[in-house]
Amino acid sequence: MPVAVVILAAGQGSRMKSNLPKVLHEVAHAPLLAHAMLSAQSIEAARIVVVTGHGGEEVGTAATAFAPDVAIVSQDEQLGTAHAVQQASEALADFDGDVIVLYGDTPFIQEDTLRRMLDARQNGAGVVVLGFEAQIPGRYGRLVTDADGGLDAIVEAKDASPEQLAITLCNSGVICADRANLFTLIDAVGNDNASGEYYLTDIVGLARAKGQTCAAITCTEAETMGVNSRADLAAADAAFQIRQRADALENGVTMHAPDTVFFAYDTYVGRDVVIEPNVVFGPAVTVETGALIRAFSHLEGCHISQEAVVGPYARLRPGAEIGNGARVGNFVEIKAAFIGEGAKVNHLSYIGDADVGDGANIGAGTITCNYDGVFKHKTVIGKRAFIGSNTALVAPVRVGDDAMTGSGSVITSDVPDTAMAISRAKQANKPGLALRLMNRLKAAKAAKNKDK
Ligand code: UD1
Ligand code: MG
Repeated sequence: MPVAVVILAAGQGSRMKSNLPKVLHEVAHAPLLAHAMLSAQSIEAARIVVVTGHGGEEVGTAATAFAPDVAIVSQDEQLGTAHAVQQASEALADFDGDVIVLYGDTPFIQEDTLRRMLDARQNGAGVVVLGFEAQIPGRYGRLVTDADGGLDAIVEAKDASPEQLAITLCNSGVICADRANLFTLIDAVGNDNASGEYYLTDIVGLARAKGQTCAAITCTEAETMGVNSRADLAAADAAFQIRQRADALENGVTMHAPDTVFFAYDTYVGRDVVIEPNVVFGPAVTVETGALIRAFSHLEGCHISQEAVVGPYARLRPGAEIGNGARVGNFVEIKAAFIGEGAKVNHLSYIGDADVGDGANIGAGTITCNYDGVFKHKTVIGKRAFIGSNTALVAPVRVGDDAMTGSGSVITSDVPDTAMAISRAKQANKPGLALRLMNRLKAAKAAKNKDK
């Protein structure tokens, strides 16, 4: 049975105190909205519809950037959650199957939970709601159950009686129903309530009145965590990191101080990788089996092959591709560059827009001068080439296979294979000059002091 997911993302999120729409604030380098979209993708949703409102254009652009085939619909006035879902009815008019409603500000709904909801639908429930036991039920909608544990109604806190307020089983907001049933029920929702809003939650009572059974599936409160403020955002990031670190350890990654390692939403780390303390992953990093990421390294948009060693204090930027067994040492920055198998860039270098051959050795302080102020140019370094310390490679330039450059050289033209290039002033030794100079300076200082 195909599933469609509608993600509500029209709200303003005023408590974020931000110019950025709330759902575009990031957890682990992906917007909150993208996390909700990942939940939808985890159950292979055939359609995803994002309902936008505040900052709609920006939100729509971000959603499409993350998954090009999402449908974006707009809710011009925020009249309530039922009204928000109603905006998706046209986009789903030709869809046959179940629809799940998620919130764009609720990033952690798990695949297993959604599958349990779909199972409950298959077992005959007209409407399935995701509930949780709330520590502090506060403003959450309360799930009113009958003697058999079936779901009778959802009552918003503002509209609840004192007995209903005492209920601790609360509504997460995630709801599932057959497409045709969902939109028929929503058409019957009114706004005669304490908030004057069209409540999506009313569809449970309406379904019951039609003789349908409804069911509540539960998950932990942590899973339904929503983000309304910067403090919530920080807490969500922390929760994400805790889960990701546990997953990495479970999958065979060694971390001596996991609490100091920060993953992105899409970090991939193979087994038997060792990650030392204080390593930060930006988006789009993959680390293959047996690699070692040493302390205080920062990695984004890069790929590290097997048995490579990175850091300590390395910075890998987008397009860094580190070959098998290669070494990238301390205070080395690499951007859009391929470092060949077994090649070494061990100290204090910038390698950008470059191709470094297998087994090459890049001396300390080597810089690829890749930018002329307008254009970027490429540096190619051959296999087994030896680049002397403090070489400046002025791109575009090629150093051949088995070639060398002398320390301190500024290389502006290609170096043929096996050649040695030296471009620096020739050294001249002046016998005794150092001592004579020093004596002259000391004498001058003594004369000056005598004058005082
Ligand atoms: C809603 C539920 C409540 C549940 C709680 C869980 C209703 C009526 N109430 O209440 O039972 O316990 O979530 O957090 O559904 N949105 C729109 N357009 C609108 C209104 C809302 O897109 O017109 C979006 C919001 O941006 C938000 C989500 O829907 O992401 C929920 O809306 P919100 O106003 O936070 O609902 P609550 O009052 O918290
Ligand atoms: Mg809310």
